[in-house]
Amino acid sequence: MEKQSQLYAGKAKTIFLTDDPDRLIVEFRNDTSAGDGAKIEQFDRKGMINNKFTAFIMEKLDAAGIPTHHEALLSDTEALVRRLEMIPLECVVRNIASGSICRRLGVEDGLELNPPTFEFFLKNDPLHDPMVNEYHALTFGWATQAEMDEMKARTFAANEVLSKLFADAGMILVDFKLEFGKHNGKLYLGDEFSPDGCRLWDAETRKILDKDRFRKDLGGVIEAYEEVAHRLGVRLD
Ligand SMILES: Nc1ncnc2c1ncn2[C@@H]1O[C@H](COP(=O)(O)OP(=O)(O)O)[C@@H](O)[C@H]1O
Ligand SMILES: [Mg+2]
Repeated sequence: MEKQSQLYAGKAKTIFLTDDPDRLIVEFRNDTSAGDGAKIEQFDRKGMINNKFTAFIMEKLDAAGIPTHHEALLSDTEALVRRLEMIPLECVVRNIASGSICRRLGVEDGLELNPPTFEFFLKNDPLHDPMVNEYHALTFGWATQAEMDEMKARTFAANEVLSKLFADAGMILVDFKLEFGKHNGKLYLGDEFSPDGCRLWDAETRKILDKDRFRKDLGGVIEAYEEVAHRLGVRLD
């Protein structure tokens, strides 16, 4: 697989074309951003951790019947993926209230959500990724009803698989964000799954083990990511 020109440089990853029109190379960088890019810092080893973490989680999801774009790890910081036409909606499942839902709805941080709830956000940095509903998506053509129904079902299915995976490793999956895309009419999970895009708390102490350590200036960001990887059995070396 030959790496060719850069297709897109996002906030945390760079995407490269390859000699196969159906395959891309994702490079995970050390850049870490919060507030839609308002705050940016580099953390040594983060690209490598998130690359290997994402591959590990995507393999679990594929095995559970949730198709993902992941094909192979190419290096510490690069993975080969299926090229998707991304749907510009972020799919969020929340098992426990934390972050923006607390500010928006005035609920207490740490409140258990039963049943878990679901939100769509428009992927749009200048607009600060606003929450949108299904009528907005239909009206503005971001996704069809069938696509949204499938994204919701897949995101809840991933919640079942991953909540158990993290619980077995002594962690609570508080919430997470997924991005999907299409290839030849089929829906695949794309992008990444790492502590950058989910909230994870220690099951006993509720210690924060995800990107909130960066957002809230708690320190020990990479140490927490490594701890999560270690507990799950993700090989980092
Ligand atoms: N398989 C894929 N095919 C095409 N684009 C993808 C795929 N997986 C992820 N992407 C897109 O590539 C970009 C990844 O880089 P990232 O740094 O996360 O960017 P952003 O700042 O837009 O979130 C995202 O815009 C994401 O939607
Ligand atoms: Mg992103």
